[in-house]
Amino acid sequence: ANSKIQIAIDGPASAGKSTVAKLVAKHFNFIYCDTGAMYRVLTLKALKANVDFADEDALMTLLADTQIGFEPGEPVQKVFLDGQEVTNDIRQPEVTNNVSTVAALGRVREELTNRQREIASKGGIVMDGRDIGTTVLPNAEVKIFLIASVDERARRRFADNEAKGIHTPLDVLKQEIETRDYKDSHRKIAPLTQAKDAVKVDTTPMSIEQVVDEIIEIASKKIK
Ligand code: CDP
Ligand code: CDP
Repeated sequence: ANSKIQIAIDGPASAGKSTVAKLVAKHFNFIYCDTGAMYRVLTLKALKANVDFADEDALMTLLADTQIGFEPGEPVQKVFLDGQEVTNDIRQPEVTNNVSTVAALGRVREELTNRQREIASKGGIVMDGRDIGTTVLPNAEVKIFLIASVDERARRRFADNEAKGIHTPLDVLKQEIETRDYKDSHRKIAPLTQAKDAVKVDTTPMSIEQVVDEIIEIASKKIK
């Protein structure tokens, strides 16, 4: 019997993790933590500071001095780097195309994993990322592995971009997604992979509401 459980949502790029995780957290009145945003914030700070993405020592020095903050927001949660809002900045192509390199570094992962567990220790939580069910919260009561075809995921990102006035061709987005998924799945430390006890949800034909309802139904069985 537990009303404050952990819900881990992992999956490849643009499967809908953040969108769905935020809504599930709202439903249960849980904390929502977007771990991808944390890797993106460090990548953005490294770009601004001109730190080489291969220089782990320099990145660790930077990270030690980096505050990552979240605040509720619509349609997406607000993200802060050292007190400054960077919600849009962390979605820039330059960040997106370098984040997997930063996220492959062992000490960077160790530090961010510690911070993520600290956030999760504060109560009921919905956390989304790549290694939440396998590494960050291996005892999570609910583990979801969210997937969708790469064409569908590219279309979703395309629609998001167009709404923001960013015009990247669909085939370029598809290529970016495939490259990032490959890097995330093939790194040595905590690669993107489905936890043995995770429920796979293929969202290709599903609406956001359908996905959210399915996860709420799965989680409700664990909440007393
Ligand atoms: O939202 P999108 O699918 O574009 O990605 P994200 O969730 O913002 O994550 C950005 C990147 O951070 C991923 O491509 C991974 O390289 C890295 N990441 C990770 O390694 N581990 C996590 N738990 C979350 C993200
Ligand atoms: O966090 P992740 O990269 O997995 O995906 P996201 O940032 O939540 O982006 C997913 C996009 O697909 C958003 O524009 C959603 O509105 C849309 N979408 C979805 O999330 N789930 C569906 N079943 C259908 C569309």
